[in-house]
Amino acid sequence: MDELLNLDDFEAAACERLPAAARDYVRGGAADEITLHENREAFRRFQLLPRVLRDVSNIDLTIDLFGERLSFPVLVAPTAFHSLAHPEGELATARAAAAVGTVMVVSTMSSYRLEEIAAAASAPKWFQLYCYRDRSVTRALVERAEAAGYRAICMTVDLPRVGRRERDLRNRFSLPPGVSPKNFEDFLDLGRLAADERVRAFERYIGELVDPSLTWEAVDWLRSVTRLPLILKGIMTRADARLAAERGVQGIVVSNHGGRQLDTVPAAVEVLGEIVEEAGERVVVLMDGGIRRGTDVAKALALGARAVLVGRPCFYGLAVAGAEGVRRVLELLKSELELTLALLGCRNPREVTREYVRRSS
Ligand SMILES: Cc1cc2nc3c(=O)[nH]c(=O)nc-3n(C[C@H](O)[C@H](O)[C@H](O)COP(=O)(O)O)c2cc1C
Repeated sequence: MDELLNLDDFEAAACERLPAAARDYVRGGAADEITLHENREAFRRFQLLPRVLRDVSNIDLTIDLFGERLSFPVLVAPTAFHSLAHPEGELATARAAAAVGTVMVVSTMSSYRLEEIAAAASAPKWFQLYCYRDRSVTRALVERAEAAGYRAICMTVDLPRVGRRERDLRNRFSLPPGVSPKNFEDFLDLGRLAADERVRAFERYIGELVDPSLTWEAVDWLRSVTRLPLILKGIMTRADARLAAERGVQGIVVSNHGGRQLDTVPAAVEVLGEIVEEAGERVVVLMDGGIRRGTDVAKALALGARAVLVGRPCFYGLAVAGAEGVRRVLELLKSELELTLALLGCRNPREVTREYVRRSS
C-alpha cells in the first residue's frame, strides 16, 4: 500500500479490485455525470493565496464539532453498503475513523446493523437517515441510533426520488448475495423467500420507503422525536439554507450527493461561499463532493466550511486494504492538509479564512 501516494492512486488500485458493477456503482453519478465531474473540476478553479514568514512550526488541525474533538476537519461521509468493498464493511470503516480520530457518518443503508457498527469502535459517530414514508420506521431507526450512542442525526434531504444512474441501469446492478440493508431486517419478514428473491424484495421495499411528498414539516417532526443535533445534508441554495436555519437545525451539509442525484447542478464548492454568507452565523456549515486533496479541504475551510466529508475515497481505501486502507486514505488527507496549512501560513483550521482563496474565472 505504501506505493499509493494520494487518493487518486487509491481509486485506481480499488478499481482493479472491485467487480465492474460495484465499481460503477461507487464511481458513477447521475445522467451525463456533469455534476460528478464538476465536483472535482470546480476545486481547480479556486486558487490558494499563501501568506509568508509566519511561524508555522506548530500546526494544530483539531476542531470541535457539536461537542466532539476531531483530529482534523474531515469526516467520513455516509455511503451505502460498505460490504461491496470489503467483507468487514462498515465495521472496518468505523475502526479506521476511530483510529484517525474522526467521526464516521453511518449510512442508513449500511451492510451491518447500526448497533454492530456502533460497537465496532468507541469513537463518536453520526447516523444518516432518510425520512421515510413510514414514519414509524424512521422513528424506530432514530431511537435505535440514540440507544446505540450515535451523537447526531444527519437527515439527507436531496433524495425525494433516486437519481438516474445509468451505469447501474446498464449493469442491471443489484446487491450481491450477502449484502443487504441490514437495518431494515426488523421491518420486513423475508424468512421464506429464496436468497435472490430476498434481495429483490428488499430493494422494492426500500424503494417504496422513499417519500416524494416530504416537506419542511418532516424536519420539524424529526426535531420533535430526537434531542440529538440535527444536520440536513443536501442543501445547495441560499434559500434552502435560510429555511434550514429558520427551522433551528444545528448544521447543514452543502452537497449534491456526490453528483448522484440531480445532474447539472453546480459543484458543492461553487455554492459554499454564498451559503455560508446566508446561514453561516446560525448553523454549522459542512460540505462534501470532490474532496481528494488537502488543498481541497483548505479551500472549503477558506470558503467558510467548518469541516468537510469524504465519500468515495473511503470506499476505495476499504476495497484496497479494509480498515488499514481507509485509515491510510484519511491519514494521507490529514498529512496533506497539515502541509497545506503550513505553506499557507496558517496554524489551525480557524485561521484559514476567505483571504486565503480566490476564484479564477
Ligand atoms: C456509493 C455511494 C453511496 C452513497 N450512499 C449515500 C447514503 O446512503 N446516504 C447519503 O446521505 N449519501 C450517500 N452518498 C453520498 C455521500 O454521502 C457524499 O455526499 C458523496 O459521496 C460526496 O462526494 P465524494 O464521493 O466525491 O466525496 C453516497 C455516495 C456514494 C458514492
